[in-house]
Amino acid sequence: MDHFHRIDGRLHAEQVPLADIGRAAGTPCYVYSRATLERHWRAFDAAFGNHPHRICYAVKANGNLAVLNVLARLGSGFDIVSGGELRRVLAAGGAADKTIFSGVGKQDWEIREALAAGIACFNIESEDELHRISAAAAKARKVAAVSVRLNPDVDANTHPYISTGLRENKFGLAESRAFAVYKRARADANLRISGVACHIGSQLTDLAPYRDALARTLEFARRLEAAGIGIDHLDFGGGLGVRYHAETPPTPAEYVGMILRMLAAHERRLPVTIEPGRAIAANAGVLLTRVIALKRGAGDTDFCIVDAGMNDLIRPALYQARQDIVEVAPPASADGTDAAAATAVREYDVVGPVCESADCLGTARRLSVRESDLLAVRTAGAYGAVMASNYNARRRPAEVMVDGDAFYVVCKRETLGALYRGESMLPADDDAADESDAADDVEVNRA
Ligand code: LLP
Repeated sequence: MDHFHRIDGRLHAEQVPLADIGRAAGTPCYVYSRATLERHWRAFDAAFGNHPHRICYAVKANGNLAVLNVLARLGSGFDIVSGGELRRVLAAGGAADKTIFSGVGKQDWEIREALAAGIACFNIESEDELHRISAAAAKARKVAAVSVRLNPDVDANTHPYISTGLRENKFGLAESRAFAVYKRARADANLRISGVACHIGSQLTDLAPYRDALARTLEFARRLEAAGIGIDHLDFGGGLGVRYHAETPPTPAEYVGMILRMLAAHERRLPVTIEPGRAIAANAGVLLTRVIALKRGAGDTDFCIVDAGMNDLIRPALYQARQDIVEVAPPASADGTDAAAATAVREYDVVGPVCESADCLGTARRLSVRESDLLAVRTAGAYGAVMASNYNARRRPAEVMVDGDAFYVVCKRETLGALYRGESMLPADDDAADESDAADDVEVNRA
């Protein structure tokens, strides 16, 4: 359920007409709904009832400070994968002691910053990482809490790019190696064993792979406990899918209910951490874009050329994702006879201005549009703005958050000058031999 709906035919975010936001903030522009973010987070939280749990929102899905802050106010924890994400969480008022650090390639400076901030737990993915965290903890005179991420070799039945729990994926450790890492951690005074972690992929629309992964993880936890290695929580990762178009993913209540039922068979009331990203943020956002032109292609295709491209929203190009695209103004009825709409419905490929044929937000979409009309790409709140780039020297989109009848620009559109701030040119040829004449901001390095 989300809070994007039509009032008198016109698409709104909560009580704000999207057309007003398009006028005020310009396009392309991401629009988030606070009430939707809160609703989704609470759906996970409520499903746990009084079972001890922590919801660590996966910052990678949408790390805008306003988004993080809204969730922090609810008491959310955070799942980070970089030092940059840690900075964001802290800047947004998130609690370090509810933050866990996942990721297959943590760098030493990131480990140091996470230790200094006092995060709750590192989810370790290799033997090498265990040593580096231990060394950093020793230096900082701290004890680092660690879980090991298990690779359960389960097929998540999702797009191969976002499947992470198969043996051939780079993520986690197979059971036998994970077990050896726990034994080493137990013998290491700089480390405290905290939990067992597992994450098998993203956009899962079926509970079956989760069941398999959880069964293996619980079996592994039993083995640990039998060997005298106690754990204080189970981290089951994220990955719950959303409805982009016609998918029917389990609800948070069904997903959490499955976890709790399987845990009930486990001897202990093990506290559970989950790391949902997409299921909280995706349906809480749309990408607002304006039609630049309509044109008939050289073949039979009609193109609707919009001002948002693959640099703004890469999911359709990268994962062949189908995201719904709808008119912001009242659309014509299916037969195109709605008196309120001036244009008939036609089928378009909705494409952006980027110079690649992959720059297509959606193929074969039935729309009633004219030049300069607004369209909304739905379900764009997760893995949208965070994956935007400056390709084709395009500014990344602005971001707006709606809260009831008010809206706030929570990320300004970049300036054109910002696109090459930090770049510099070589000294003029005449001066090349004389380093002292080089522009102050040009670094000169010699072999
Ligand atoms: N925890 C870990 C360890 C993860 O690797 C991920 C996602 C999550 C949690 C959150 O998963 P979620 O609940 O959002 O599915 N860019 C891709 C998605 C990449 C997901 C990577 N890991 C997309 O647009 O589909």
